[in-house]
Amino acid sequence: MATSSTPGKIILFGEHAVVYGRPALAVPVTQVQATVTVSSTDSVTGSRNGMDFREKDWQARIRIEAPDICLSTELSRLAPDHPLAAVTRSVFFTLGIDSPPPLTIHITSTIPVASGLGSGAAVSVALIRALSSTVHRPLSDEQVNTLAYEIEKLHHGTPSGIDNTVVTYAKPVYFVKDQPIETFRVGAPFTIVIADTGVSTLTKESVGDVRELWEADKTGWEKVFDEIGKIARLARKMIENGEWMALGPLMDENHALLQQLTVSSPELDRLVEVAHRSGTLGAKLSGGGRGGNMIALVQKEDAPAVAEALMSAGAKRTIITQIE
Ligand code: MEV
Repeated sequence: MATSSTPGKIILFGEHAVVYGRPALAVPVTQVQATVTVSSTDSVTGSRNGMDFREKDWQARIRIEAPDICLSTELSRLAPDHPLAAVTRSVFFTLGIDSPPPLTIHITSTIPVASGLGSGAAVSVALIRALSSTVHRPLSDEQVNTLAYEIEKLHHGTPSGIDNTVVTYAKPVYFVKDQPIETFRVGAPFTIVIADTGVSTLTKESVGDVRELWEADKTGWEKVFDEIGKIARLARKMIENGEWMALGPLMDENHALLQQLTVSSPELDRLVEVAHRSGTLGAKLSGGGRGGNMIALVQKEDAPAVAEALMSAGAKRTIITQIE
């Protein structure tokens, strides 16, 4: 039996522009996790109609239980592009295992789905690790990250790879697409309130819409991406120097640029505005936008009051997290 847990994530700075090669900063959120347990099921060997079915039917002998999404089925019944099926098949393919043993995969997650907290990437990473450990062939972080990125590509069109990277390494990441992974140091811990609009959002859609804008006016939008990239670079320096209070105005600037990119929403803007009225140092949407979560930088002692104000303004849930 093997169990693996993977945290959620937030993007502090640089979403969307990161798809176009600019840097972005993301950190793990350990208060929410995806957990996968894989256990061996009693071996079902033998023959049906006189035929040995151990090899042919291996996918029928892998059960997937994901009570959070009311899924209880055999791998063989899932469509090839179902994310859980794609992960499971690609792990065994990568390991060169043609006929895996009978297994039960149990998946739970406290990471809200379709909300910008990296739920899909976290489930993929936990599943890859639990499956490969069960067959005693644990994969390196780099291999896990590469596989998880392939799955992200199946489902998100043109992802930058930031989501799978931050949840695989579970460390603050300064991410530039197609560049070696760089983690960054947090000079002094700081506090973020995360608030969920409750509006489900598909990253693929907002990323697709931004692409359409960019196709129509590459020169204009490249300038916006440059501005966002500048903010992410400066924010990294400030975080490393322990000057976290200076991040507030940068968050506000980044949010305004994301509004220009049309990826904010009335719900996100409202929570950002309420955060400002209740004493935050800066606030912005986080992730793909159009719904999902926003983040607010606060003094540690103000966090409960800001969280309460956001709930009163319609947030469906809040998480207070310390970045360190
Ligand atoms: C999604 O968490 C972040 C985006 O920048 C998309 C990506 O980087 O793949 C919106």
